[in-house]
Amino acid sequence: METAEVIRTRRSVREYRDEPIDPSLLEELIELATLSPSSYNMQPWEFLVCREDATLRRLRGCAYDQPQVTDSAVTVVVLANLDPAAHARPILEDSFEKGYIESEQALERRIERIEGKRDDPLEDRRLWATKSTSLAAMTLMLAAWDRGIASCPMEGFDADALCREFGIDPEAYDPVMLITLGYPAEDAEDIVRERKHRRAVEELCHYESFEPDR
Ligand SMILES: Cc1cc2nc3c(=O)[nH]c(=O)nc-3n(C[C@H](O)[C@H](O)[C@H](O)COP(=O)(O)O)c2cc1C
Repeated sequence: METAEVIRTRRSVREYRDEPIDPSLLEELIELATLSPSSYNMQPWEFLVCREDATLRRLRGCAYDQPQVTDSAVTVVVLANLDPAAHARPILEDSFEKGYIESEQALERRIERIEGKRDDPLEDRRLWATKSTSLAAMTLMLAAWDRGIASCPMEGFDADALCREFGIDPEAYDPVMLITLGYPAEDAEDIVRERKHRRAVEELCHYESFEPDR
């Protein structure tokens, strides 16, 4: 599909056919998600891929019993790494080798600057990591839809319960979103129905100065 068509036809779909997603296709979708932009290219995302029925049931238990979790072929928990410098050295060494960073001293300064962000308050680090991680989540959904795989992003889950259930340290990783994935059911209401309302461009687009109506 053309990019605009992928964007125009994507819907949040909550009913799926009982059909697995090929593991190599799933891996390709995750790989495409990793091509998303990220702050300082730090790529603060991790993907907990839940495919087995028992795992999906445990996840649904953390997601206010939303049925699309167990209906999906795969649900991905998109996690944000709250250590901004977790991968700083290998990423920036690569930038140095490719000529984006001019000297070894500049490389060390860059690494130090990012390591300094470890002292930022937890809420700042959470927001910082959530921005980049959310972009990766969107890429994953668009890449999936391009291959006929529908998705539903979800923030309707208890993050503390999810961390407890899956042994995730909430001080180190923040579960940002769940993304359910699966081939859409033919009569899926989310596809059959007319697209939900979108605010008009002239209402939300502000040129040169920002003077919202409300
Ligand atoms: C951050 C976020 C959280 C969402 N959480 C849920 C959720 O917990 N459960 C659900 O069924 N849909 C959830 N949705 C899907 C929205 O309801 C959906 O995107 C919206 O109604 C617009 O529909 P569309 O995606 O089909 O255009 C969420 C979407 C976003 C972006």
